Amino acid sequence: MYAQLVDTGAKRVAAREELAPEDRAFQDRIDAGVKIEPKDPMPEAYRRTLIRQISQHAHSEIVGMLPEGNWITRAPTLKRKAILLAKVQDEGGHGLYLYSAAETLGVSRDQMIADLHAGKAKYSSIFNYPTLTWADVGCIGWLVDGAAIINQIPLCRCSYGPYARAMVRICKEESFHQRQGYDIMLALCRGAPEQKAMAQEAFNRWWWPALAMQGPPDKDSVHSAQSMAWRIKLFSNDELRQKWLDQTVPQAQFLGLEVPDPALRWNAETGHWEHGPIDWEEFYRVIKGDGPCNRDRLRTRVKAWEDGAWVREAAVAHAEKRAARAKAA
Ligand SMILES: [Fe+2]
Ligand SMILES: [Fe+2]
Repeated sequence: MYAQLVDTGAKRVAAREELAPEDRAFQDRIDAGVKIEPKDPMPEAYRRTLIRQISQHAHSEIVGMLPEGNWITRAPTLKRKAILLAKVQDEGGHGLYLYSAAETLGVSRDQMIADLHAGKAKYSSIFNYPTLTWADVGCIGWLVDGAAIINQIPLCRCSYGPYARAMVRICKEESFHQRQGYDIMLALCRGAPEQKAMAQEAFNRWWWPALAMQGPPDKDSVHSAQSMAWRIKLFSNDELRQKWLDQTVPQAQFLGLEVPDPALRWNAETGHWEHGPIDWEEFYRVIKGDGPCNRDRLRTRVKAWEDGAWVREAAVAHAEKRAARAKAA
């Protein structure tokens, strides 16, 4: 989702009796639902996997500010502008909680940012698509933040304390994000024929990337199995996608939008919606850096980092001055 294809370093999931005594004790704590805290002993692979997952999630939050940030100056009304501004600021806040959570595992924020800017760290594939019209802002809130909630609510119960607690607050804000997106779509779909057409056109472009964003089917993935054993992943990608699909199709119907999938069908026996084949080639291409906006997103991030150097330097100088004054007193 916001962390896709997280490598656990595992070749296979070891059985309980194969684990070293300390790792077995750790697994027993996880299985008993005990939260792991920063100073607790933990296997090195658990720590590294969490760093990958949480930092990737943090990167997704701050890169996710860019496609919508583009629209702050062009939002159609003052009210829409204020709402969008608050939403984009929320995403910046989510990034900060998550970078802080990752730092408790012994990685520095500078290192994480450097990895992102060097193209070494991944972020969600979804933020590499362009926002061409105002309806794209509606689609992101409705579809992407909607997917984020489905993925992140279970993470409030994940095994690592600082990550789980960050998620509680983030999820509350995500539900506001989803509703503001849906509200934009509702206004467009009830508006002039041109507005309705704009909503449909954006929906057509976001549907497939949003359906793919939970990641490829992971029933055979050793990394997913290991992450699930550690309780840092609680549902498989397909389970999350199914929940999203079942939630989203009726919402699209209410708006009067047509889902751009001729194979979409309701299965009365299972009580679930079924979708046509997803283009995983495209997903892998985008996540490896070759999506429509990857280069542009990274360029913008690096420029923001460089332009903000004076702020960081001033903050450090101020802190040093205060520390020196406190010491003198
Ligand atoms: Fe967020
Ligand atoms: Fe959000």
